[in-house]
Amino acid sequence: MINFDRYKIMKLTKVESTNDEVLNLLLSGVNPPVVVTAEEQTGGRGRAGHKWLSKPGGLYFSLGMRSKGLETDSKLIVLASLPVVETLRYFGLNPRIKIPNDVYIGDKKISGILGERKSDFLIIGVGINVNQDSFPDEIKHLATSMFIETGKVFDRNNVLYTFLKEFNRLIDSPDLAYDRWVKYVSVIGKKARFTYKGKSLICEIKAIDKDLNLETDMGKFNIYEIFGFEEL
Ligand code: BTN
Repeated sequence: MINFDRYKIMKLTKVESTNDEVLNLLLSGVNPPVVVTAEEQTGGRGRAGHKWLSKPGGLYFSLGMRSKGLETDSKLIVLASLPVVETLRYFGLNPRIKIPNDVYIGDKKISGILGERKSDFLIIGVGINVNQDSFPDEIKHLATSMFIETGKVFDRNNVLYTFLKEFNRLIDSPDLAYDRWVKYVSVIGKKARFTYKGKSLICEIKAIDKDLNLETDMGKFNIYEIFGFEEL
């Protein structure tokens, strides 16, 4: 276990999912905040039951902390895309946020976040495609990496530490984060399709308010309750 800033970090080689590893550490009594990284995941999970391909070269980690209640946790899970964006910008990329918390370069995904609330804990799992030089045929039109975008190999520790410093800024002043976050969200003024409380809707996004409601031509919808968001 190493210490960085306020975090205890455990680096593992191959695990099923770092989200599960961090939960086990917390349940065994390790004090949060704690981070688990892995070189590779055999059962990396994404949102909505998707898989997250986790071959060596990417950065896979989960941050475990004490839950601050549903509302605050949900907000943090959405806003956690901001430290990812700020990290990628620090390394010279120009990302955007796709609702709810995906990070894209152009039309390709570079990072995804899986937030889970279990027992008294909030777990934020982050996958960032760092040094992968290719992806399997099924996803190569959908995915990119820092290496593919810049032609450079990055030190994944540096990427992680940059993220953690940016994440601290987010938890220390979540109210200041909204203004930075909203300017990277790429849907304002566009049409989108999504499912809200079991109904499929197509509407125009006019704005996103501070409570993370999408303001649309069909009413207000909270981001936490939106599934299958697709920009049209
Ligand atoms: C998504 O885009 O659907 C979310 C992907 C989240 C992937 C990360 S990798 C580290 C952590 N462990 C997991 O099993 N998933 C998250």
